[in-house]
Amino acid sequence: MLRAQRILVTGAAGRVGFPIARALAAQGNTVFGLARYRDPTHLDKVLAAGIHPVVGDLHGADFADLPDGITHVFHAGAALGAETADWEFALEVNALSTGRLMRAVASTCRGFVYCSTGSTYAYQGPRPLREDDPPGIHTTGNYSFSKVAGEAVVRHTALEHSLPATIIRICSTYGPEGGAPWDRIARMLAGEEIALHPDAPNRYHPIHEDDYVRLGIRALEVATVPALVVNWGGSETVSAEEYLAYAGELCGVEPRVVYRADAWTPLWPEVTKMHAVLGRCEVPWRDGFRRMLEARCPERLVG
Ligand SMILES: NC(=O)c1ccc[n+]([C@@H]2O[C@H](COP(=O)([O-])OP(=O)(O)OC[C@H]3O[C@@H](n4cnc5c(N)ncnc54)[C@H](OP(=O)(O)O)[C@@H]3O)[C@@H](O)[C@H]2O)c1
Repeated sequence: MLRAQRILVTGAAGRVGFPIARALAAQGNTVFGLARYRDPTHLDKVLAAGIHPVVGDLHGADFADLPDGITHVFHAGAALGAETADWEFALEVNALSTGRLMRAVASTCRGFVYCSTGSTYAYQGPRPLREDDPPGIHTTGNYSFSKVAGEAVVRHTALEHSLPATIIRICSTYGPEGGAPWDRIARMLAGEEIALHPDAPNRYHPIHEDDYVRLGIRALEVATVPALVVNWGGSETVSAEEYLAYAGELCGVEPRVVYRADAWTPLWPEVTKMHAVLGRCEVPWRDGFRRMLEARCPERLVG
């Protein structure tokens, strides 16, 4: 277990970064949380969790003012959604800046985790995606392109600076902070249609916060040169159709699923390598989803 280390978490108020930064601080590490803190309430959130905020923008950063002696970095900060509309902006924030960050900490850092995404894979049809499957640009456009580039930068810089790194290809986190499954459930609760890919059922491996905190910290510990590349999701295969039906049952709502060719392709990761290097997940998906709904919309629960 990591203790008494000096750990930088970027994207420290976000869905992935915050619970990991909070857990690292609670287990006796000095944790610095970098973000722009566009939402000022996020500063209070990280301060309350014992995280030292570092206000900064990854875009154009030279990282000259980072705290000294950083031993580990969990790099979750990234351009997402509308911010990736400009491909050069996405490339700078999600790839080029990562190389400069790695170089800035290389002399003291023993483990660097880069949050990549299952969206870097070219869709392979209805089968699990393996770490050696080819990359592709799909419905998330510049975002997936910038993360493919980011992985290349991390692999290069890890070798160039002998900096142990782990690239985690995240596929669907969920929990009290939300995540892609919650986004779909929220649309269902608002009475909207949910667009899914025609290759039904749309299989995923949602990973609950309790598990992603544990596996995220483990990813810092097992980093290697050359960089380790590993899928990162839950241990169970669950389709979006199944979890929407279950959440609908708990909330007394019938999901209205429509199948559209332009919907996101399902992210169904092969997790054999993850089990070997990071461990297995422990939260059964139905328990996890119920807990997410209890945290995010207790007033909607009927079952
Ligand atoms: N959640 C998932 O299921 C999932 C799936 C695949 C990949 N990922 C990857 O996991 C990482 C975290 O995602 P998330 O879901 O936690 O996203 P999130 O909730 O949107 O958090 C992103 C964080 O990054 C910070 N950030 C964004 N742009 C920044 C910039 N230019 N400079 C400094 N900080 C910046 C944001 O804070 P400010 O806006 O205040 O700066 C926020 O704290 C990302 O790398 C993402 O690509 C997540």
